[in-house]
Amino acid sequence: MKLHPVDLFLFSCTCLLLCAATPVRAAIRREAEALVNWKDSLAGADGSLGSWSLANSTSLCSWTHISCNSAGHVTGLDITDRSLNGTLDRFDCSAFPHLENLILFRNGLYGTIPAGIGNLTSLVGLNISRNPYLSGAIPRSIGQLKHLVVLRLENLGLDGTLPEEIGNMTSLEVLTLRSVTLTGSIPLTIGMLVKLRKLILDYNNLTGSIPLEIGNMTELQELSFSRNYLEGQLPGTLSHLIKLQDMYLSENQLGGHTFPELGNSSLLRMVDIRMNNFSGMFPSSICVGGALRYLMAAYNGFTGIHKQTFQNCTNLKYVSFTANNIVADLRDCFGEHSRQLEVLAFSQNQLYGSILADESETFPCNYTLLLFLDLSNNALDGSLPKCLWDMPSLEFMDLSSNSFTGVVPFSRTCQDTLSNLHLANNHFTGTFPLALKKCKNLITLDLGGNSFSDDFTNFTGMVHEEKSNDDVEYEEKIQIVWKNVDYAYTTTITGLVGIDLSGNFLSQEIPGGLTTLLGIRYLNLSGNHLSGCIPEDIGNLLLLESLDLSRNQLTGEIPPSFAGLKSISALNLSSNGLSGRIPTSNQLQTLVDPSIYSNNLGLCGFPLEDCVSSATSTQSETSQAEDREKLWFYCFVAAGFIFGFWLYCGIFFFRSETWRCAFYQHVDNLQGRVTKKI
Ligand SMILES: *[C@@H]1O[C@H](CO)[C@@H](O)[C@H](O)[C@H]1NC(C)=O
Ligand SMILES: *[C@@H]1O[C@H](CO)[C@@H](O)[C@H](O)[C@H]1NC(C)=O
Ligand SMILES: *[C@@H]1O[C@H](CO)[C@@H](O)[C@H](O)[C@H]1NC(C)=O
Ligand SMILES: *[C@@H]1O[C@H](CO)[C@@H](O)[C@H](O)[C@H]1NC(C)=O
Ligand SMILES: *[C@@H]1O[C@H](CO)[C@@H](O)[C@H](O)[C@H]1NC(C)=O
Ligand SMILES: *[C@@H]1O[C@H](CO)[C@@H](O)[C@H](O)[C@H]1NC(C)=O
Ligand SMILES: *[C@@H]1O[C@H](CO)[C@@H](O)[C@H](O)[C@H]1NC(C)=O
Ligand SMILES: *[C@@H]1O[C@H](CO)[C@@H](O)[C@H](O)[C@H]1NC(C)=O
Ligand SMILES: *[C@@H]1O[C@H](CO)[C@@H](O)[C@H](O)[C@H]1NC(C)=O
Ligand SMILES: *[C@@H]1O[C@H](CO)[C@@H](O)[C@H](O)[C@H]1NC(C)=O
Ligand SMILES: *[C@@H]1O[C@H](CO)[C@@H](O)[C@H](O)[C@H]1NC(C)=O
Ligand SMILES: *[C@@H]1O[C@H](CO)[C@@H](O)[C@H](O)[C@H]1NC(C)=O
Repeated sequence: MKLHPVDLFLFSCTCLLLCAATPVRAAIRREAEALVNWKDSLAGADGSLGSWSLANSTSLCSWTHISCNSAGHVTGLDITDRSLNGTLDRFDCSAFPHLENLILFRNGLYGTIPAGIGNLTSLVGLNISRNPYLSGAIPRSIGQLKHLVVLRLENLGLDGTLPEEIGNMTSLEVLTLRSVTLTGSIPLTIGMLVKLRKLILDYNNLTGSIPLEIGNMTELQELSFSRNYLEGQLPGTLSHLIKLQDMYLSENQLGGHTFPELGNSSLLRMVDIRMNNFSGMFPSSICVGGALRYLMAAYNGFTGIHKQTFQNCTNLKYVSFTANNIVADLRDCFGEHSRQLEVLAFSQNQLYGSILADESETFPCNYTLLLFLDLSNNALDGSLPKCLWDMPSLEFMDLSSNSFTGVVPFSRTCQDTLSNLHLANNHFTGTFPLALKKCKNLITLDLGGNSFSDDFTNFTGMVHEEKSNDDVEYEEKIQIVWKNVDYAYTTTITGLVGIDLSGNFLSQEIPGGLTTLLGIRYLNLSGNHLSGCIPEDIGNLLLLESLDLSRNQLTGEIPPSFAGLKSISALNLSSNGLSGRIPTSNQLQTLVDPSIYSNNLGLCGFPLEDCVSSATSTQSETSQAEDREKLWFYCFVAAGFIFGFWLYCGIFFFRSETWRCAFYQHVDNLQGRVTKKI
């Protein structure tokens, strides 16, 4: 038979194809072998990688966690959350020239990241995050991954520096190296990553300063260096980052007398520079673009704020300058147009001026979204305007430790939202603010250190409801300094109560209703003019740890139920008119300091002298018909007045066991809620 030339051509083509297919099959075979070889080195991988078998190598593409291209080469390996237990040592990187995505997220890998990783030259996405036992350094060969767009190495147990070869990965758009733990400084070559949109280097041990070259990364939208040991000034080249939206630099040692003008990005939305060493005037340009929502500058050394700084901040929701040295008029601390404000925290500064409320003033009349207001520990004065109670969203207000004067104004309304009110250590006078009886959801009320007097007005309008914070999940650490004893414990916010009404001009009897507040742990009524007896059923307060009734005019005997205070560890009944036998119990016998009973009419028994045997215990009958109103009043107050600070170990952006507890974190929690809402 004579072959037609066309047949001959077809035959040749077929032959060529077959010949060409042989190396392809060999390469695929190598990929299969490499996978099985690695699998065999893992402990207990048979379950999730059961289909990985050379008997099955013709169907490599049907193996679990594998994806292939049309030629049958492995292009993706995604093993997420499979508890892989083993190392990458037997993962032959050079066997996968077509691999584009390698995801080994959340497994139990240990050992090191092999240098061979640089041979995965087609790689576009690499994610080995959350393998906390991976150790060693990031290999320099990683710089060979020229096509890599996304590199995520988060929560690993590494150490060592960020290799300067990182700058060779010029396709990178997302670089996440959070908590891995890097040491040394940020290499200058990082500026070569001009396509980078996201640079996350927080929770490491980076030292040195932020390189000027950062300004070359003009596509950058998110920058996070929080929680390192960076120092020095911020480079002025930050102003080149005109697409920057979120900047997190908190908890470093960055500083210098000037904070560069940052307002060049019209998209700037988040500035978090908390807990650094910045000083000088805060710049005026921060809101040029008008996009700024969050400004977190607490715990620095800023000394002032320009009057126009907040001028264009039309979208600002959150401002915190807690614990700086800002000397400024209160009115310069919020913008005329900051109608979106939800959180305003300027505690621990040197603000002066007063909260004015006439027609021409903007604050607080029009802040309808404000839910957190903390102006405590400043030098503010004047009296409070009535409209403070009208802010419809307000949840938290702390005006304590200022020089406010006058009567807390009456208003017909109190918003249901108000849960925390702190007015302590001012010069308020008059009766307890009547408006409070309308505040149905108060959790904490702090009125200590003022000159209030009381007349136990009609408080039947008040209802005490258990407030549950189911919209926020956080743990709260409370620290209370009480009689120089430091109490610290963790609890949920619900159910934690303490009352401090010390140092006021409270008179009449302690209402028996107080003893129905079974959750109370701290009760301080010292330094008032309380008279009558200690409530007979005080022993019901099984959780009571601290009780201070000193410096009042209490009379009669200490009721026998007192012995039921099983948790009491700090007690002061001194300087009253008490008499009779001190009850005994195992817990009371631990309170050996006699001065806690001193300066009374005639107490006896441990730790004072023995009682004379003839003393008969006549229980002085107190009027049990106490006024319901008083009861309600105290129920209400007792819904929790917390003396001292609330110290939150919150979750906010990042979780960490060593998160320092400080008051400002309360702000963070609120901030967390604000962000949650978005
Ligand atoms: C990993 O495998 C080793 C044995 O190969 C075993 O001792 C170890 O407990 C395993 N770890 C986990 C987290 O399963
Ligand atoms: C081959 O793979 C398929 C699915 O991918 C699986 O069902 C089968 O059990 C495997 N065969 C062997 C011999 O492992
Ligand atoms: C990368 O692959 C080449 C060729 O297969 C090999 O010689 C080299 O050792 C590999 N590099 C690493 C770091 O494994
Ligand atoms: C990759 O890692 C990050 C954490 O770095 C994780 O949040 C993300 O879900 C992972 N992506 C994939 C596709 O597994
Ligand atoms: C990082 O710093 C912390 C705190 O100083 C230290 O405990 C830890 O050992 C450091 N880690 C490395 C890898 O240097
Ligand atoms: C990779 O980076 C190193 C150090 O930055 C540099 O010396 C080297 O020339 C780079 N290699 C390539 C191929 O770009
Ligand atoms: C990067 O920034 C530095 C300093 O700002 C500059 O001198 C250099 O030319 C820039 N390099 C590139 C590649 O843009
Ligand atoms: C601000 O950004 C513009 C580009 O939008 C740029 O020309 C200018 O130099 C930047 N300003 C500063 C101070 O860097
Ligand atoms: C903080 O800044 C001040 C000057 O502004 C400087 O004197 C001080 O040394 C800095 N502190 C730290 C820890 O860097
Ligand atoms: C506020 O915006 C106006 C108009 O865009 C601008 O002229 C002014 O400089 C801005 N002021 C501040 C302090 O950013
Ligand atoms: C406050 O809001 C009212 C209407 O909501 C408006 O009439 C008034 O002008 C605003 N006051 C200021 C100072 O902006
Ligand atoms: C207290 O107020 C309630 C309701 O506001 C009223 O019904 C009651 O009569 C008042 N009691 C006294 C003693 O004024």
